[in-house]
Amino acid sequence: MKIAVLPGDGIGPEIVKEAVKVLNALDEKFELEEAPVGGAGYEASGHPLPEATLALAKSADAILFGAVGDWKYDSLERALRPEQAILGLRKHLELFANFRPAICYPQLTGASSLKAEIVSGLDILIVRELNGDIYFGQPRGLRESPDGLFKGAREGFDTMRYAEPEVRRIAHVAFQAAQKRQKKLTSVDKANVLETSQFWRDIMIDVSKEYPDVELSHMYVDNAAMQLVKAPKAFDVVVTGNMFGDILSDEAAMLTGSIGMLPSASLDKNNKGLYEPSHGSAPDIAGKGIANPLATILSAAMMLRYSLGREEQADRIETAVKKVLEQGYRTADIVTPDCKRVGTVEMGDAVIAAL
Ligand code: IPM
Ligand code: MG
Repeated sequence: MKIAVLPGDGIGPEIVKEAVKVLNALDEKFELEEAPVGGAGYEASGHPLPEATLALAKSADAILFGAVGDWKYDSLERALRPEQAILGLRKHLELFANFRPAICYPQLTGASSLKAEIVSGLDILIVRELNGDIYFGQPRGLRESPDGLFKGAREGFDTMRYAEPEVRRIAHVAFQAAQKRQKKLTSVDKANVLETSQFWRDIMIDVSKEYPDVELSHMYVDNAAMQLVKAPKAFDVVVTGNMFGDILSDEAAMLTGSIGMLPSASLDKNNKGLYEPSHGSAPDIAGKGIANPLATILSAAMMLRYSLGREEQADRIETAVKKVLEQGYRTADIVTPDCKRVGTVEMGDAVIAAL
């Protein structure tokens, strides 16, 4: 089993190091190969997704990814910015199904900005389509406005679009995920305004006929944003497009107390996947040794489960994480009164001790 390790920028290298440490502490040894990506890729070879990095990602059984991005690259042309690395990997490897679980650990209810009774026991799963939508739709760019009130003025434009097979495949993934959980699926769209969304909704309804055991409901994205803070526990699985999923998954993550706790998986149709924390590169705290490595460690657990078929090892890591929380270990983002405040490396050590 070969794992491509792509630490990236900001806190990426620090947190990935801890996840690698945890993987190396398991009984089974994996072949780990590291390569630069994002700003680090740009520094190494002039492109955020160097060819050798992409080749490694393609040849590996799974990819463990840190985070990309740093303000110092903001002035680069779009094609060279660090974000293009993750977008490129998702597209080149056809990682269309993004799983973003939002779980509120009992020990961390106090860390949420919402009242404890609203978030305690929260366990929702956002399934975000990752290969289409306005993120990748062509045409896009800058042009002279061809019509309307501002005809002739400069305008920026993007295209929201979804092809039927694209919606069908994410629908199946989401229904199957719901079957393994509470069997409730909420499809989030903006069908009251957007053609793409009405099309999405019609297909969701069609696919639902193959999953009579799953209860499908629909919600407009603005309402979903509101319900997520009002009554988040009413959700089980949420399926949505790339753009809405980007926004709602950050919102859902924050319900749990810290985005520093949440892993994610991006899978292709054969369950090969890229695993990364839901959070970003946090350049403001990079190198300080205070970042929370748990989201990345939990991403490694998801990798063992979904792509490497090592369910038992995945369980071991997840149990170890729960144990360190019970023992009171906390990084800066999740500090609570009377906790044992630790840095990135100590948190990794605590997980290994708990293993
Ligand atoms: C995410 C991030 C990315 C996205 C960025 C870094 C391109 O926000 O994974 O949610 O927008 O998908
Ligand atoms: Mg995002």
